[in-house]
Amino acid sequence: MDIQEIKSLIRDIPDFPKPGILFRDITTLLCDPQGLRSTIDLLAGTCAPLNPDYIVGIESRGFIFGTPVAHQLGCGFVPVRKPKKLPAPVHRVSYDLEYGQDQLEIHQDAISSGDRIVIVDDLMATGGTAKAAAELIEKAEGQLVGCVFVIELEALGGRQNLPEVPIASLIQY
Ligand code: PRP
Ligand code: HPA
Repeated sequence: MDIQEIKSLIRDIPDFPKPGILFRDITTLLCDPQGLRSTIDLLAGTCAPLNPDYIVGIESRGFIFGTPVAHQLGCGFVPVRKPKKLPAPVHRVSYDLEYGQDQLEIHQDAISSGDRIVIVDDLMATGGTAKAAAELIEKAEGQLVGCVFVIELEALGGRQNLPEVPIASLIQY
């Protein structure tokens, strides 16, 4: 399946979660067997040349895509989670949301110094979430070698939040 066919499986939901937002819904892509397989294959093909030791996936939709990519590449998967979910000692960062703040955490012992890391998530909007994940990887002394997204909302300029990292997306709006 090519990119245009994959894009056609993403559903637009107006006014979700708030009036004025056009939400790009990946659940319709996930439940299409060939769409799911092609998306994972394309993500894995994009990540492979970066030669990662670990894929870092961001809760929760980043887990859906990151884990099968890690499986396909034969590398490990490390979750970045919302607060108070990870049981062992964590690194923590705060980041700004449209209204207020949130936090993300990673296990302190998940990554070793110098490990090559690729962040995988379903979507980059403002890039704030990916930037927070990048800060966690820096705290863990990992080497962030790329960020790979299924969807990039280009008008929100997320790339400017991660100027020093190669960024790739399969689908742009
Ligand atoms: C969404 C999406 C990204 C993030 C992108 O996750 O999956 O992780 O927002 O937004 P940003 O580039 O503006 O930071 P969300 O926080 O809604 O969590 P979810 O995956 O659990 O739905
Ligand atoms: N779709 C899905 N997730 C999102 C979006 C969107 O349009 N914007 C921010 N997170």
